[in-house]
Amino acid sequence: MSIALVILAAGKGTRMESDLPKVLHPIAQVPMLVHAMRAGAALDPARVVVVAGHGAEAVTRAVRAEDDNAQVVLQTEQLGTAHAVDQARDALAGFSGDVVVLYGDTPFVQPDTLERMIAARADHDLVVLGFQAADPARYGRLVMDGSDLTRIVEFKDAGPAERAIDLCNSGLLACDAAMLFDLIATVGNDNASGEYYLTDVVALARARGLSATAVTCDEAETLGVNSRAELAVADGLFQARARAGLLDKGVTLMAPDSVYLAQDTVIGRDTVIEPNVVFGPGVTVETGALIRAFCYLEGCHISRGAIVGPYARLRPGAELAENTKVGNFVELKNARIDEGAKVNHLSYIGNATIGAGANIGAGTITCNYDGVMKHHTRIGARAFIGSNTMLVAPVNVGAGAMTASGSVITRDVADDALAMSRTEQQNKPGRARKLFDMLRAKKARRERETN
Ligand code: UD1
Ligand code: MG
Repeated sequence: MSIALVILAAGKGTRMESDLPKVLHPIAQVPMLVHAMRAGAALDPARVVVVAGHGAEAVTRAVRAEDDNAQVVLQTEQLGTAHAVDQARDALAGFSGDVVVLYGDTPFVQPDTLERMIAARADHDLVVLGFQAADPARYGRLVMDGSDLTRIVEFKDAGPAERAIDLCNSGLLACDAAMLFDLIATVGNDNASGEYYLTDVVALARARGLSATAVTCDEAETLGVNSRAELAVADGLFQARARAGLLDKGVTLMAPDSVYLAQDTVIGRDTVIEPNVVFGPGVTVETGALIRAFCYLEGCHISRGAIVGPYARLRPGAELAENTKVGNFVELKNARIDEGAKVNHLSYIGNATIGAGANIGAGTITCNYDGVMKHHTRIGARAFIGSNTMLVAPVNVGAGAMTASGSVITRDVADDALAMSRTEQQNKPGRARKLFDMLRAKKARRERETN
């Protein structure tokens, strides 16, 4: 059966107090909406339709960046969840299969929960995702009759008996597309909020003799975000879960609470992460690597046995081969470091390839930017770059070559050659002592004058 995701993301999120649409606020460095898209992607949907409203342009960019095939439809006025789903009607004209409705501000729903909803569709026309709420508060209540779902009552419209129900509506549901749009066409807005409630489709379906049920999940999965405080809590929950997942898979986190992970962080077993490491998006670390304290990593790959940090910054496009070393106060960007090469201290290596076994001395800088364009630096295998070498790109240093410390390298260096580019040293016997005497006398004279 074919599946279409309809993800509701038109709301303003007033309580976020933000210029950024609520669904674009990140959790673990990824917009909430993208978390929902990734959870839904597990159902291998044939179609993805995001309903945008507030900040639709920014929402569209984020959706496209994640999935070029996703469609974005506009809901110019937020008249309720049924009205929101209805905006996907034209986009899904001709689609046959199930619609699964997700919320862009409910990022934690798990793929297997969505799969259970689809499985329950085998026996029921309509499947709603519910949860046992510790504090049912203002959620919609699921009115059950055995395993059949009779209707959903919004808090505002509920009487005391219904408010006593603690089985609540997550908002997510699954239903045949044609049937759902048919039902939505009959939803009215005669209720306490004057909104078109998606939840009304349940009673409407039952009135037509269709069946409905609820699949339940842990409350943590249905957690929504409405304020910065809730965003921080949600991020904290994500981090706790992701850290526990890594520990289970055999990754050592010396101080788990101090390691900040991204939604897509991948770390292999027997890798050790020291305290205070931040993972930005797009980081993969193979097995048996060591990430020492205070590193900031994003968009990079670290191979088996590599040692990074303390205090290293790996920016997008940094690729470390096996058994490489990148030490303190080193910044890498768009740079490939081949097997066994070392960049141990105080260097900037950008737009570069560093050959296997090369040694990059302290304070080396690839001068990759001429103010307008970026240029490449290529260092051959086993080359030795002396400390404080400036490599003015584009430039190549051959295999087994050396540069003298303090050199400014502007021309290519052949294999096995030594390049030296600095003024020659002069030694002046006794001159230091004379200089000291002169300077001390000057200081003494000044002190006499001011007293
Ligand atoms: C909704 C459910 C409620 C459920 C709760 C779970 C209805 C009528 N009620 O209530 O049963 O317990 O979610 O959190 O569905 N949205 C739009 N366009 C709109 C209205 C909403 O895109 O016109 C989006 C919102 O941005 C949000 C989601 O739909 O992502 C839910 O809307 P919200 O207003 O938060 O619904 P609730 O009142 O919380
Ligand atoms: Mg809500």
